[in-house]
Amino acid sequence: MSVRCIQDGLTGFVTLDNPPVNAIGREMRQGLLEAVAWAEGLNLDRVIVTGAGRAFAAGADAKEFDGPPLEPYLPDVLDAIERSFVPWIAAINGVALGGGAEIALACRMRIMGPGAQIGLPEVTLGVIPGAGGTQRAMRLCGLETALELIAFGKPMGAKAALAAGLVHAVEDDPVEAADMVNTEELLCVVPTWELPAPEMDVAAFSAVRENLAKRSPGQIAPHRAVEVMEAGLGLDFAEAMALERATFLDLKSGDQSRALRHMFFSERAAKAPADLPAAPQITQVAVVGGGTMGAGIAYACLSVGLSVVLLETDADGVARATENVERLIVAGLKRGRLDDSSAEVLRARLVITDDYGAASGSSLAIEAAFEAMEVKKEIFAKLDAALPADTILATNTSYLDIDEVAAGTKDPSRVLGLHFFAPAHIMRLLEIVQGAQTGDRALAMGFGLAKLLKKVPVLAGVCDGFIGNRIFSRYREEADFLLMDGAVPWEVDEVMEAFGYAMGPYEVGDLSGLDIGFANRRRQDATRDPKRRYVPIADRMVNEGRLGRKTSVGWYRYPGGGGKVVDPLIEDLIAEEAHFAGVTRAEIPDDVVRERLLLAMINEAANILGEGIAHSAADIDLVTVFGYGFPRWRGGLMHFADAWGVVEIVEKLRLLEAQDPVVWAVSPVLAECAAAGMALTDWRAKG
Ligand code: 3HC
Repeated sequence: MSVRCIQDGLTGFVTLDNPPVNAIGREMRQGLLEAVAWAEGLNLDRVIVTGAGRAFAAGADAKEFDGPPLEPYLPDVLDAIERSFVPWIAAINGVALGGGAEIALACRMRIMGPGAQIGLPEVTLGVIPGAGGTQRAMRLCGLETALELIAFGKPMGAKAALAAGLVHAVEDDPVEAADMVNTEELLCVVPTWELPAPEMDVAAFSAVRENLAKRSPGQIAPHRAVEVMEAGLGLDFAEAMALERATFLDLKSGDQSRALRHMFFSERAAKAPADLPAAPQITQVAVVGGGTMGAGIAYACLSVGLSVVLLETDADGVARATENVERLIVAGLKRGRLDDSSAEVLRARLVITDDYGAASGSSLAIEAAFEAMEVKKEIFAKLDAALPADTILATNTSYLDIDEVAAGTKDPSRVLGLHFFAPAHIMRLLEIVQGAQTGDRALAMGFGLAKLLKKVPVLAGVCDGFIGNRIFSRYREEADFLLMDGAVPWEVDEVMEAFGYAMGPYEVGDLSGLDIGFANRRRQDATRDPKRRYVPIADRMVNEGRLGRKTSVGWYRYPGGGGKVVDPLIEDLIAEEAHFAGVTRAEIPDDVVRERLLLAMINEAANILGEGIAHSAADIDLVTVFGYGFPRWRGGLMHFADAWGVVEIVEKLRLLEAQDPVVWAVSPVLAECAAAGMALTDWRAKG
């Protein structure tokens, strides 16, 4: 049973017990309802409800959201708790989120453990609180705090919850403290539903809406939550509860909630494959190269308690690397992620040197040096010579052939790719690239490191760009085709921002530097299909020194190193290149721009799936969301494609293929899914 009831004198102890985090499913709702009747039948003078294990309750069981609501409904259960003549006390031992927090809010009193958290994160699953959270929270902690809690979904720690008036006390042992509460005092506490709703505060509503426009563009649920709270001020409790419930149910069956649930469960499913051995122990990591990426990787490792030996080529390199890591430590101090003593501990665990011998105690080495095969091979030869035979060797390459890197080492089975994303200590994605000879131990090490660093690991095969950069390259290529055909960079960027990206491809290009793409294109010159369309606009930009932000001029201008401004000269440059290429440019409607970019990415992603470079469509979703800014509320590229409709996608691709069969050859995976009426998410390789 997921609810256990024990009587001790006049106290009833109710334990929520549905491992691992006490998600509230039908059985728990039923159990709670029966617990109300049980306590009343025994005429108890209190019920103390707490959670078994590490959580109080993680909220409604989101796995039930795909089906119709099942009785008893949570609002009715909580209504029964709140109106029972036996007062309930929530002893919040761990996280109380969503429906879990709503159980607590419906209790007469709340006592919280110091390490517990309380929050209403429903918007992160595309819904709003559906069991009184909007109404009870604003009655308990006031409008402003409740709006922040619900519209942005960020949980509160115990101290903040106490200060906000959401809980009555913070105690080391909340169950014991609940048992000690004086009965008279307990009966004097007014049930939440009887408290008056706060006064209307127009400024608070305007502020939250303004904030939402900046922080959660495109998302529906936060706005609906704010609407429900605003309307609730003018309704009685029961009417407001009915409005909240109807809104919750409407959102639960909507596209955004489906997409966000898909992301939630895909993220949690991203773990080491079951048949891999346990991850080897890691205490020390060697990182080669102290540039932006290497320093970020070193800092990420230091932050989770690892020792790091950061290897550079010479004294100048050591000085640069020291500066780069120190900059991250100072930023950590400024943001409150570190204090003086933790910063000192971090520094003490770091050695920066040009002596590879100093890294001999490392169980893993991550090379993050310049992106050139010769450089990588030289480094791997040095690592091979200096480190023990069982040290795992990883390269952080974004594009290069890992098999070629591995071939030069004594034991290619211990070589893999660990593709971090900049800034490496912040971005959650880690592509774990499996070469032809990568062994299980090396893979287990990659997944083990991802777990330590709290990254989302995605297994990828070897190809130019692996999963993410290969899709991104196609996106960039199509964007340049659009420029040649009639679009301008700021239009393309605006269209993709309206779709949900924080930045369009040209602003991203300016940020990373146009020289990066240029170097890649030169590397690909030898293997590029001569029949494939090629647009030289970006090459010309580089030749003219327009490298992006670093030169204050790229696709945009950045006067004085500040914000971007449109540069009309770019339009002339594009028109000139189109003239040289004999292309007649014509205005391209926004929906065509959006469609071509999305179709290009979807088709490439389907090929990546078909070639086994990605193991599932969900993995591609994780890569596009966590590494490339695809809007999470659209569920990642492949989930989005399924929602759009594979049949329609293939029809549109066929029209483009008729115009350019090289660029737009329809992916066999898409064709197969369309013919079989199958979703990409359900596609599996045969055999
Ligand atoms: N429903 C279903 N399963 C859930 C769940 C939920 N609400 N919350 C967590 N789980 C599952 C996870 O999928 C995972 O399953 P797995 O072991 O099979 O992969 C397992 O519980 C453990 O979860 P985590 O790996 O995330 O464990 P952590 O300790 O890292 O985090 C947590 C625990 C902070 C509770 C985190 O899981 C979390 O944030 N959960 C979601 C909280 C949430 O959004 N609640 C609102 C739900 S909607 C709602 O309540 C509507 C209501 O208003 C009516």
